[in-house]
Amino acid sequence: MEKTWFREMTVFQIWPRSFKDGNGDGIGDLKGILSKLDYIKSLGADAIWFSPLYVSPQADYGYDIADYYNINPEYGTLDEFKEVLAGAHERGIKVIMDLVINHTSDQCEWFKKSAAGDPQYKDYYIWRPGKGKDGKKFPNNWMATFPGDGWTYNEQRGEYYLHLFAVEQPDLNHDNPAVREEVKKIMRYWLDMGVDGFREDVITMISKREGLPNGVWLPAMRGMEHYMQGPNLKKYLTEYRQVTKDYDCMQVGEAPMMTPKKALLYVSDGEDKVLDMMFGFQHMEADCLFISWIHTGFNLRKLKKVYNNWQTMLYNKGWNANYIENHDQPRNISRYGSEKYRVESGKALATMYSFLSGTQYIYQGQEIGMVDYPFKSWDDFVDVSTFSTKKLIEKLGFSDKKIFKMAKYAARDNARTPVQWSAEANAGFTTPDAKPWYLINPNYTEVNVEAAEKDPNSLLHYYRKVIALRKQYKDAAIYGEFKLYLKGDKQLFVYDKIGEENKLTVVINLSEKEVNSSKVKKFIPEGAEEILANYEGMGDKLRPYETHVYLTKK
Ligand code: NOJ
Repeated sequence: MEKTWFREMTVFQIWPRSFKDGNGDGIGDLKGILSKLDYIKSLGADAIWFSPLYVSPQADYGYDIADYYNINPEYGTLDEFKEVLAGAHERGIKVIMDLVINHTSDQCEWFKKSAAGDPQYKDYYIWRPGKGKDGKKFPNNWMATFPGDGWTYNEQRGEYYLHLFAVEQPDLNHDNPAVREEVKKIMRYWLDMGVDGFREDVITMISKREGLPNGVWLPAMRGMEHYMQGPNLKKYLTEYRQVTKDYDCMQVGEAPMMTPKKALLYVSDGEDKVLDMMFGFQHMEADCLFISWIHTGFNLRKLKKVYNNWQTMLYNKGWNANYIENHDQPRNISRYGSEKYRVESGKALATMYSFLSGTQYIYQGQEIGMVDYPFKSWDDFVDVSTFSTKKLIEKLGFSDKKIFKMAKYAARDNARTPVQWSAEANAGFTTPDAKPWYLINPNYTEVNVEAAEKDPNSLLHYYRKVIALRKQYKDAAIYGEFKLYLKGDKQLFVYDKIGEENKLTVVINLSEKEVNSSKVKKFIPEGAEEILANYEGMGDKLRPYETHVYLTKK
């Protein structure tokens, strides 16, 4: 596999609203980000991916963009962004922007003009007349991802528009060449400013099947077989790739319902590659059925199977994007680890995914082991998808108590509480007398960056070590061949990464229960050097979440 800068990166994801407030208004901003660039550098991160910073009414916290060319005033100005960009580059940190082009905000000028029937913009979105005698039936039976109807009637235009997400997020019509030109213009604008690539939001949903046929009956996301990796996806991505070919940049596409086999159609090395890597979702489904709301309990065997598939099928062919948290996922310690063993399980999870082949992504707060919020009532939630999912599940007849329990475990709100910087009032996220825009996890007095810096055994220091080791032994960790052992074991995750010069052996007890170490000893090569561990030594039993990594020089 060709060695490139973006393959070797550890990317730190910032969700701007909750990262750091620099002006005391309780909302994270660019000034706050600027003040933390050294911290990000200190982790060993090579890049920052910014969740949307653009002008947005925030119906979906920035994933509803009203102006692609400017910064949301709550976050600062374009000049401040340029300062952050320069500050990042000075430190050798690349900057990846979120590119949200499946849809815009309904407050975007394009949508306003389209609704008004302006000839230049009238086909920018997916408009259809209503059906039935009175014209009041939806154009088809598709449903939105944020469960609800996929269509909303617009009085001014007298037609329905398609939105695969919230009502405020009308889908763009990529079949219209003028829309594709707009996308290319946006890409060039940011690349010319100096950004180093894009994370492309639900990019595999941009092409809808001609005629918009009805979908098979499903309580949510009905119609998805007609737009998930739709008929013209590759064609449109090829066009967008023409833009990035002129720059030294990278593209990572968000790809719901992706399998490794299909991923290879887009990320295989070679002339027709259209994305450098993709964010799959299968590995985030080891504790649920399809969506995190349908909780099944953590199943390590399921997780290992997914990793094994992606690692082996993409080996020497395409590239993985490895993450265990982001702004859409509840905190991983609360899901795959254990809050009781917060630090130990945090270290086990960090180890588990840091030595997999692929580019590594870390979400803000993950590095200090932030956990889910102890929600008490529905008033504690703010995310549009939490409420739309609640509404859908109510219709299915579940009790409020049961739905609340599901939401607590699954809501995206869990990832969106402000970063805990210190034990000061408001966790050092904003000034002590300000009102933070969202709830701060009460555990901040204990779980915060300042405390983690002082504790040599903290998860934070462990992350720094893991990130450094991943680079030091990159032939094995980043580019090596994956070999899984004990596939059927319910507690142990043991694998080798075999590189040209080094071999790494990763041994993890990914459970709260002890397990006989005799089960793993046979996989540790004689004379191998231990380079990482979260407990000292290895006794007869592996303790909860006990983790070791061994190095063998070839
Ligand atoms: C995926 C983003 O990660 C998520 O936060 C957003 O709500 C949807 N796409 C819609 O843009």
